[in-house]
Amino acid sequence: MKQGTQRARDTGFFAHPSFDGHEQVILAHDAETGLKAIIAIHDRTLGPALGGCRMWPYADENAAIDDVLRLSRGMTYKNSLAGLDYGGGKAVIIADPHTDKSAALLRAFGDAVERLGGIFITGEDVGISDRDMEEVATRTAHVRGIRANGLGDPSPFTAWGVFSAMQAAVRYRLARPSLDGLHVALQGLGHVGSRLAALLHENGARLTVSDIDSERLDEARRRYGASVAPVEDIHKTPADIFAPCALGGFLNRKTIPEIAAGIVCGAANNQLLTAEDGPFLRKRGILYCPDYLVNAGGAISIAPPRRELSAEQMKARVGRIGDTLMQVLSRADSEGAPPERIADRIAEERIAAARQGGHRASA
Ligand code: NAI
Repeated sequence: MKQGTQRARDTGFFAHPSFDGHEQVILAHDAETGLKAIIAIHDRTLGPALGGCRMWPYADENAAIDDVLRLSRGMTYKNSLAGLDYGGGKAVIIADPHTDKSAALLRAFGDAVERLGGIFITGEDVGISDRDMEEVATRTAHVRGIRANGLGDPSPFTAWGVFSAMQAAVRYRLARPSLDGLHVALQGLGHVGSRLAALLHENGARLTVSDIDSERLDEARRRYGASVAPVEDIHKTPADIFAPCALGGFLNRKTIPEIAAGIVCGAANNQLLTAEDGPFLRKRGILYCPDYLVNAGGAISIAPPRRELSAEQMKARVGRIGDTLMQVLSRADSEGAPPERIADRIAEERIAAARQGGHRASA
């Protein structure tokens, strides 16, 4: 996205393949609690950097750096396309949420966010719950997605946005008025995936699901009559829609030829492993609904600094994701370009216009 950020003499961090002219990348460490976090601020042209905090037992530091660089860049695009006056940032904590999480560690992370003085505002992501964020909020005001200043957990709004996008995608691709009678292969039954499963079931869709957590599978079987696919085979399910709602990078050279659904629409961030994977999906005739467009519901719900809308009003706002997707898909077809390129272009145009207008967030 940014010009002139890679130079031949950059051989270390600045030459990292996922580095994209990020404004700041901060390492936060606390010896007492064992906190090891990385906060990446990608771009603040539209406002302070807004992005969640992920806790994950990364295999090594490079995997964490790669994730935070990619996710923070994604937030710049997500916030821009969603029309929010925020830039993009993200935090990752290198830890296992099942064994390493403690209130003290979360508070130490809160201190690290507070030290940034408001240029970065955070919320929950994978491995972090809204309750965890309440702990973080005991140390910093720069937290969203908690009951104290808004509608709380963003996941239901993310699920609602993905659901609205699916409705638009089936109207566009299958000329179907609703999801009734359609078959969705859903990967990941976490905060977002479980709520999406409920919405799909309520609206008459048939579900095949996968997760690494067998309790979640049992619940989906019991509550929604879902069929279960092995983790490595969910994308091969002959469904109408494949919905990746676990981790990123799942759409790649190996998996794309195996996808049996005609539409890919899900909540996971950074679904495409490389930039070539979008055009590859298109070549295979699969309609890819750009991840950061369809999963923006959570960001939209936490964006207001105070509770301004009721949950119903917020759902109506988030539901506009379906309209934006329609515009992107029809522009993609008329220009013969993959949908994610069109989404990128719209997001970049808004940032470029703000830059030209001299708009710059103050800290
Ligand atoms: P979560 O951590 O609550 O759920 C992830 C689920 O995926 C868990 O049930 C986990 O067991 C499962 N899983 C992990 N590896 C798997 C695999 N190989 N196959 C199948 N299942 C697997 O996370 P959450 O919050 O539901 O987020 C899901 C995705 O959506 C993430 O990529 C996240 O970044 C993205 N997202 C979430 C938002 C939110 O509001 N929570 C907002 C925007 C994006």
